[in-house]
Amino acid sequence: MSTPSLLTLHAAVSGGGSLLAATLELDYPNKPGALRGVSFDIEAGEIVGLIGESGSGKSSVAMCLMRLLRARGTRLRGSIRFDGRDLLASSEREMRRIRGRDIGLVLQSPLASLNPMLRVGAQMAEAWRAHRSTSNEQMRGEIARAMEMVSLPSTDEFLRRYPRQLSVGLAQRVLIAMAILHRPKLLIADEPTSALDVITSAEILKLFARLNRELGMAILFISHDLLSVAALCHRVAIMKSGELVECAPAARIFAAPAHPYTRELVAALPRMPGAPDQLPVSSTNLSTAIEKMAGLP
Ligand SMILES: Nc1ncnc2c1ncn2[C@@H]1O[C@H](COP(=O)(O)OP(=O)(O)OP(=O)(O)O)[C@@H](O)[C@H]1O
Ligand SMILES: [Mg+2]
Repeated sequence: MSTPSLLTLHAAVSGGGSLLAATLELDYPNKPGALRGVSFDIEAGEIVGLIGESGSGKSSVAMCLMRLLRARGTRLRGSIRFDGRDLLASSEREMRRIRGRDIGLVLQSPLASLNPMLRVGAQMAEAWRAHRSTSNEQMRGEIARAMEMVSLPSTDEFLRRYPRQLSVGLAQRVLIAMAILHRPKLLIADEPTSALDVITSAEILKLFARLNRELGMAILFISHDLLSVAALCHRVAIMKSGELVECAPAARIFAAPAHPYTRELVAALPRMPGAPDQLPVSSTNLSTAIEKMAGLP
């Protein structure tokens, strides 16, 4: 049986109405205008990619949505409507309930995000108890299901491992399992594959596609890599110097990039082998291109 393409993996979902609508204006004490009028929305079940050069403000967008910017002198204005709530008007106590339960977060360096002193099972249990008080038996069942969703074993041997006994790829899967434990409606992934080798990274991309399809989870996928974003995401938003310059369906970004910066990004992409003058514009060959580049069969 042939491997389904990344694009067909997620085709089942989306179109469920706006889950998140944000307009962000952010000033850091030493960097006023870090985000300027960054306005976008994410539908329920949709995967939106956020791409842009280093320092353009991608991680700042993630931190704003999670309301994790509390340093003195940092000023966030605008609005963040999420699932019928106004996150900018929410108290820190409400945000603590939302983070990890309704919005999951996966970061770039999995080993740095895990507690080195705690076994995998204990960290999963901590993540569960942060939002639910259930019997240990029910908790173990839910943890096993989350591990299964990310193709990890939920054996005692694995749950008793410390983070140092995991490869980076396994550690990233553990973090993803933690992030989906409460089945959040939105998962924010900030460069979740940039610490991984190309094969592991392609596997993690497929995992995100599967989670989106099977759990109907919306994903904000932040990356430097336009090709993987285009293969995974329904829509792509492009940032430059604190502004969102373009947001369009993935295929249109390639076929008809509107903004000069997007045209530059697309022009800089590697060409398909054997077709030096053509860009991988159609969804099918784009997906094949990624799999080829990732060395997948
Ligand atoms: N906590 C902070 N305090 C002050 N300035 C910050 C802070 N975090 C980020 N900045 C600045 O804001 C700008 C946007 O940074 P941000 O980390 O959001 O970019 P990014 O697009 O995620 O970059 P990268 O691709 O390197 O991760 C940069 O100029 C950065 O130096
Ligand atoms: Mg960043």
